[in-house]
Amino acid sequence: MKAVGLYKYLPIDHPESLLDLEVETPAAAGHDLLVGVKAISVNPVDYKRKAPRDLVEKAPKILGWDAAGIVQAVGPEVTLFKPGDAVYYAGSVIRQGANCEFHLVDERIVGGKPANLSFAQAAALPLTTLTAWELMFERMGISKSGAQAGKSLLILGGAGGVGSIAIQLAKKLARLRVIASAARPESIAWCKALGADETVDHSKPLDIPEVNFLLCLTSADAYWNQFPKLVKPQGKIGLIVRTTKPVDLAILHDKSIATCLEGMFTRSSFQTPDMAAQHALLDEAAGLIEAEVLKTTLAQNLGRICAANLKRAHKMLAEGHVIGKLVLEGW
Ligand SMILES: NC(=O)c1ccc[n+]([C@@H]2O[C@H](COP(=O)([O-])OP(=O)(O)OC[C@H]3O[C@@H](n4cnc5c(N)ncnc54)[C@H](OP(=O)(O)O)[C@@H]3O)[C@@H](O)[C@H]2O)c1
Repeated sequence: MKAVGLYKYLPIDHPESLLDLEVETPAAAGHDLLVGVKAISVNPVDYKRKAPRDLVEKAPKILGWDAAGIVQAVGPEVTLFKPGDAVYYAGSVIRQGANCEFHLVDERIVGGKPANLSFAQAAALPLTTLTAWELMFERMGISKSGAQAGKSLLILGGAGGVGSIAIQLAKKLARLRVIASAARPESIAWCKALGADETVDHSKPLDIPEVNFLLCLTSADAYWNQFPKLVKPQGKIGLIVRTTKPVDLAILHDKSIATCLEGMFTRSSFQTPDMAAQHALLDEAAGLIEAEVLKTTLAQNLGRICAANLKRAHKMLAEGHVIGKLVLEGW
């Protein structure tokens, strides 16, 4: 089968940083689905996982943690899907990624593809939806049925992949007042079109009234000292990007501000007993898309799935100003 992978962890412009390869098609065992991948989307995790280092892989390492496709075969323990089903999912970072024609994924982290979306539109969604949903509704305890309607939420990084779905979940389900950060006319317009009530420019010092909830969808390093000023007493901060240096928790103490960490690969990496919650979550999100409550965050289709197009996507993401999601489709 075709795959895009790497042996060496090289700068993205190096001719061998990502390679078009022919590799053996894997076989489904246990809870695995073998999915014929139709479209993928690209996330910052892809370029972070291929950061230059000395390691040389014996077998090609395949990246890619967002896909939509059709189930080709199932392992003997599979109960949720059958061959022919259309699915969408993010997969697991402890396994090979989905930048390949046929991909193995555990059924417990897969959802049925929203019927009203193309494969490309569906591939844009799983990783970021899992992240924003788990962060807000599970880690931070924000009510997804609107019990905190009218409370305020600041999203730092509103126009990115995670921000684009977070705005929708916060407005349409939680019914919060959403202030999204965006620094350019295009990203401001994108956030407003997705439903943000207001935008604030993160390239300038943030001077806004305190909020109940804050999602920091970018490095917290530069924002940490501003958190006590931005968040109300007993408010909550959601973090998805690792801090790169120690932070001072004490500055949050007077206001009893909680910090909540989200890792959307936690369940699959540690095979937690509630791993199938991600199957349920993606199915619930698919229902909301079919009901036209939520919409795809696909912004650009970069063409077929190949090393050259993936390199373009990695470079765009590494620059840090992508709006919505970048998708590749077909072989
Ligand atoms: N923990 C997890 O489970 C998890 C899951 C998904 C993603 N992540 C991480 O979360 C981060 C965001 O992911 P993503 O997919 O949303 O990334 P993305 O799509 O690449 O985000 C791009 C957006 O970031 C905004 N941005 C750039 N600099 C900013 C700043 N200083 N402050 C606030 N916003 C800024 C840009 O807006 P402007 O162009 O207007 O500046 C742009 O729209 C990445 O580091 C990713 O690795 C973690």
